[in-house]
Amino acid sequence: MESLKVGLLGIGTVGGGTYTVLQRNQAEIANRAGRQIEIVKVADRDLARAESITGGKVALTQSIDEVVSDPNIDVVVELIGGYTLAKEAVLKAIANGKHVVTANKALLALHGNEIFAAAQQQGVIVAYEAAVAGGIPIIKALREGLAANRIEWLAGIINGTTNFILTEMRDKGLAFADVLGEAQRLGYAEADPTFDVEGIDAAHKLMIMAGIAFAMPMQFDKVYTEGISKLESKDIRYAEELGYRVKLLGISKRSEQGVEIRVHPTLIPEKRLIANVDGAMNAVLVKGDAVGPTLYYGAGAGSEPTASAVIADLVDVARMQHANSAQRVPYLAHHQMQAADALHILPIEQIHSAYYLRLRALDKPGVMADITKILAERQISIDAMMQKEPLDNEDAADIVILTHITQEKNINQAIVAIEQLSALDGQVVKLRMEALSR
Ligand code: HSE
Repeated sequence: MESLKVGLLGIGTVGGGTYTVLQRNQAEIANRAGRQIEIVKVADRDLARAESITGGKVALTQSIDEVVSDPNIDVVVELIGGYTLAKEAVLKAIANGKHVVTANKALLALHGNEIFAAAQQQGVIVAYEAAVAGGIPIIKALREGLAANRIEWLAGIINGTTNFILTEMRDKGLAFADVLGEAQRLGYAEADPTFDVEGIDAAHKLMIMAGIAFAMPMQFDKVYTEGISKLESKDIRYAEELGYRVKLLGISKRSEQGVEIRVHPTLIPEKRLIANVDGAMNAVLVKGDAVGPTLYYGAGAGSEPTASAVIADLVDVARMQHANSAQRVPYLAHHQMQAADALHILPIEQIHSAYYLRLRALDKPGVMADITKILAERQISIDAMMQKEPLDNEDAADIVILTHITQEKNINQAIVAIEQLSALDGQVVKLRMEALSR
């Protein structure tokens, strides 16, 4: 059988890994795919770098167009990143009848609906395993392995940079700003570090997973996104004293009212496996009604781990290239998607969660009674409470309160009332908590 002819757009970290792994495991991969997978053309701005990786064995060009318009190419692998050039390249490749493999989560979260519609019309595959959690085959698991299930919720550590930062903050008691630089030096970070630290990268990945889980078209503007740049190591320490770890989680769940899609720092019980995913590693917990909770763990970034996902997609394309589109796995796993507004995405004020509150108040009689009264008036039940002894020269103390589940609107109203108490020093810190047990 003829080899699958691949055109590569971008031969940086992931593209280089893809080239190397395809060469190294050529025979094994061909044995799985049923035929050879061959990179026949590479487009990259840096021709010297491309030459040093490919050793003169592949045609090189600086023109994206030369790859997406090459009649000899069956599948285009898009590893350019960003929205502008990448979107143009992907749509052009599709229009030219080529299958597409992409690692571009931002592109899919924002323009996935348009890209999948174009691909559907042309009868071509758009595969994107590498877009979410790097080397972890979470897309395969969600689209195929869990096909029997009604997915109830999923929660993931899906950004390695922030998980590395949080791990260092906890282990070394360092401030956020002190560890950011190190994470960037290690090369996990996005080109724009705010995408990592403000939770945007995680939100892109969460939107894609939620789309598959709930048959929901992409609606990235409705994903609630809060990063870790304002997180204080003091809160990580207090959470730990109470038996919790703080992780940047992407959470999506169905409720009777709609669907929650949110990224934010989250307290989770330290005894959960996912609470112990440290450093730059990723993990996704998925709860299906039949299978129960399942956990997927591995490297969420890096050259060969991400290449592993890209090549798995190429193997799928090699097998399914000539299949009727109806026999292929649908882009977001479902033949009929929900109408965009059928699954109401809940505004953050309407979600339900348990909460961690940290406040600083004068250590004098009646203060605690005032605070608990405010919570009780709003039907907010306290789960645990801790007061730190004031230092010798201070008359205010840190108080930490963990609540049972309530609506976010209630907790926000309570915080406004607590902040009006004369005994209060500064603002209340609020973090959400998830049990992740059922
Ligand atoms: N910046 C991402 C991370 C890389 O830190 O996980 C892969 O998407």
